[in-house]
Amino acid sequence: MGILEVLFPFFVFPVIYAASNDCQFSLCGNNSILIRFPFQLEGDRNPYCGYPGFNLTCTNSSKTVLKFPYSRGAFYVRSINYLTQKIQVYDPDDCLPKRLLSLNISGSPFIPTFTRDYTFLSCPFQNAGSQFIPIDCLSNSTSFVSAIPTLSLINPLNESCYVITRVSVPVSGPEQQYEKNFRDELIEDLRLTWDTPDCKYCESRQQLCGFDPNNNGQLFCFSGYQTGTSRRGTQVFRIITLCIAGPAAVFAIVMACCVCYKDRLANIRNSAITRSAPAATISPEPQITTTGLDESTIESYEKVVLGESRRVPGPNNNGCCWICLSEYNSKETIRLIPECKHCFHADCIDEWLRINTTCPVCRNSPSPSPIHVTSIDP
Ligand SMILES: *[C@@H]1O[C@H](CO)[C@@H](O)[C@H](O)[C@H]1NC(C)=O
Ligand SMILES: *[C@@H]1O[C@H](CO)[C@@H](O)[C@H](O)[C@H]1NC(C)=O
Ligand SMILES: *[C@@H]1O[C@H](CO)[C@@H](O)[C@H](O)[C@H]1NC(C)=O
Ligand SMILES: *[C@@H]1O[C@H](CO)[C@@H](O)[C@H](O)[C@H]1NC(C)=O
Ligand SMILES: *[C@@H]1O[C@H](CO)[C@@H](O)[C@H](O)[C@H]1NC(C)=O
Ligand SMILES: *[C@@H]1O[C@H](CO)[C@@H](O)[C@H](O)[C@H]1NC(C)=O
Repeated sequence: MGILEVLFPFFVFPVIYAASNDCQFSLCGNNSILIRFPFQLEGDRNPYCGYPGFNLTCTNSSKTVLKFPYSRGAFYVRSINYLTQKIQVYDPDDCLPKRLLSLNISGSPFIPTFTRDYTFLSCPFQNAGSQFIPIDCLSNSTSFVSAIPTLSLINPLNESCYVITRVSVPVSGPEQQYEKNFRDELIEDLRLTWDTPDCKYCESRQQLCGFDPNNNGQLFCFSGYQTGTSRRGTQVFRIITLCIAGPAAVFAIVMACCVCYKDRLANIRNSAITRSAPAATISPEPQITTTGLDESTIESYEKVVLGESRRVPGPNNNGCCWICLSEYNSKETIRLIPECKHCFHADCIDEWLRINTTCPVCRNSPSPSPIHVTSIDP
């Protein structure tokens, strides 16, 4: 392989890598909902790392918080799907119907995928009929509150009942789907989506989306921590190789220049000194210093094969692997880092741990010292 082929990628990518490194992924404490563009933790130093309206905050108990400008109170984030641009939030007090009564998401970038009109009723007795949805957290011993899809409302109402309000409720599915299960619709999470910024193009190519800091307001795709399931291994390897080989290549270039310069000085002075192997100095390999874990240590970390539910143990509840950003599928093998319990696809994290000793999410070091060191050839 020629020296130009080895170095070529570093002449192409520095801008992209520098830009994507500027904007960091964030997490709220031990919670693993990935916060990245268009979302941003409030207080981030780089305003261009988030899109207006996508501010999130963290609670002291590691919950990720979303607020709507015209609704009082906070919602906790259950999950964010960056590919489909969907966010799922829930009420910290576990009474979503109460929040729906005063919900106003206008002024936020979020929109419901589907909505259904519900009528909230208050009656002095427990409503029997199956179409009434009893709402325990709004009811007390003297007034029972229920909600019913406005279209299914029977007229006339029992005279002792009265309509509290009618609200348009964001729901997960179209009309036909609720027939059997609309009872659950009001207690399940609020599912919202966003159209702007549209990062689906970048995400579907397993790239990251962001503002170009050098090009006011323009969105563009970063080549980043991407990969599809099939190419994951080589991609992860490439990313990791780039991280290490990048600085090594720069070092190699500087060394090569030094050698050239010294050679010229030497020639000028007619020095008789012969240099045996300048080529070895140019090759980037000898400069690579890897400090990773050895195979037996990596193997000693807990592995789990995901079941049909695809439920991931530990605090990783956003359903995707931090390294390759692809979702977990059933029967995939994932590996947990001891102590912090962050988990990743086994083949992603193994590659990482061969050259790093820390968890890529929280930078916790599960092992006190590097075990395997390849040092610079003298
Ligand atoms: C959102 O966060 C950014 C970065 O910290 C900040 O500059 C901006 O003022 C925040 N916006 C709101 C509405 O809080
Ligand atoms: C969160 O922690 C900070 C600092 O430790 C404290 O000042 C604040 O009152 C806490 N907030 C809550 C809601 O517990
Ligand atoms: C995360 O941290 C909070 C307190 O900060 C703790 O209550 C909770 O149990 C922790 N969760 C996990 C999965 O470690
Ligand atoms: C939401 O709040 C805004 C600002 O107060 C108001 O203009 C709008 O009418 C409200 N929408 C609903 C559905 O209440
Ligand atoms: C029950 O709730 C209704 C309406 O929210 C309220 O007017 C009433 O005082 C409550 N009764 C009791 C016993 O808490
Ligand atoms: C209203 O409901 C109560 C309790 O189920 C019932 O006794 C009463 O007859 C109903 N009134 C009408 C007008 O349907």
